[in-house]
Amino acid sequence: MAGLLLDTLKGRNADRRPVWFMRQAGRYLPEYRALRAAKGGFLALVYDSEAAAEITLQPLHRYDFDGAILFSDILIVPYAMGQDLQFLAGEGPHLAPALVDTALASLAAVPERLTPIYETVARVRHRLDTEFATPHTLLGFAGSPWTVATYMVAGEGSRDQHAARELAYRDPAAFQAIIDAIVAVTVDYLGGQIAAGAEAVQLFDSWAGSLAPAEFERWVIAPNAEIVRQLKARCPDTPIIGFPKGAGEKLVAYARETGVDALGVDETIDPLWAARELPAGLPVQGNLDPLLLLAGGDELDTQAHRVLDAFADRPHVFNLGHGIGQFTPIEHVERLLKVVRGWSR
Ligand code: CP3
Repeated sequence: MAGLLLDTLKGRNADRRPVWFMRQAGRYLPEYRALRAAKGGFLALVYDSEAAAEITLQPLHRYDFDGAILFSDILIVPYAMGQDLQFLAGEGPHLAPALVDTALASLAAVPERLTPIYETVARVRHRLDTEFATPHTLLGFAGSPWTVATYMVAGEGSRDQHAARELAYRDPAAFQAIIDAIVAVTVDYLGGQIAAGAEAVQLFDSWAGSLAPAEFERWVIAPNAEIVRQLKARCPDTPIIGFPKGAGEKLVAYARETGVDALGVDETIDPLWAARELPAGLPVQGNLDPLLLLAGGDELDTQAHRVLDAFADRPHVFNLGHGIGQFTPIEHVERLLKVVRGWSR
């Protein structure tokens, strides 16, 4: 089954706008918090395929989003590459050993750590096909190599990604080896998600904005282009959404040079600029400020209309500019969906 979201990612400009939100399955939903408390932690949820499938579908049951995004995390890839992964409450993720202390070659890969994720995808696929009257699109995802490397090198999140940026300048060959290893696992991982039933995939490059232009070319554009090239050879019909957050005006080069089928745009970009400057016909996804959804009020409606109007003449997937925040009120989500679904030319 196709569905409005998949059609739009393939370049069709329909009357109704497909809508989903990054991080739509998560802590702003009471039904997520309840299941998380019962299962005892985030990773336990990810590795329980039945629970992960249920969480993937929670936001669709509540809001009937056009897309379901696999419930997992971008850091499953470093985990499968042999780093230990922990999510400590209130601290964010920890990966050990960090590659500031250890050579990449000393990690022993654990590819079985990817298998339960494919099982989740297959379960969601089956449930979408059997429990829903209309087609909904199943999205797989992975982190892009630069963003994943920032966590692998530092062993944790960091404000300015300085450990990875410094390593990339000090020892570009060592850093290139890390990037190449992530590219290889990511192609396999996304190919596995597609084989299990994902109909489109998104590459999250959340920290693309921290790089100077030449570094952006080498560590964002080149590895994403390589993933697209290899994945297209395996799965030519599956759309790939690239989301280089914070890329600013470098979005134009990213769109042209990576070969992605659709482009995620963050909230710092003026939608009128994006509509004008991005390659004609390229599907765009975004880009309402998630903080405006938290704040609510009339400005929410005004800005949502601005996004809808700006992208009226090209294929557009309505989304936020980044993930939905954990304190977002349910009623604000309902209000925004009413605006998006009520829009007409
Ligand atoms: O979009 C979805 O609903 C699908 C699931 C998804 C999660 N993380 C679940 C999650 C996706 C697509 C991600 C991507 C992800 N993970 C990114 C890229 C996108 C972005 O937000 O920039 C990054 C950088 C990560 C790494 C990560 N995962 C961090 C830094 C943290 C801790 C901080 C935080 O926001 O909680 C996580 C944990 C995480 N990943 C949670 C969820 C629902 C929260 C877990 C919990 O405590 O319940």
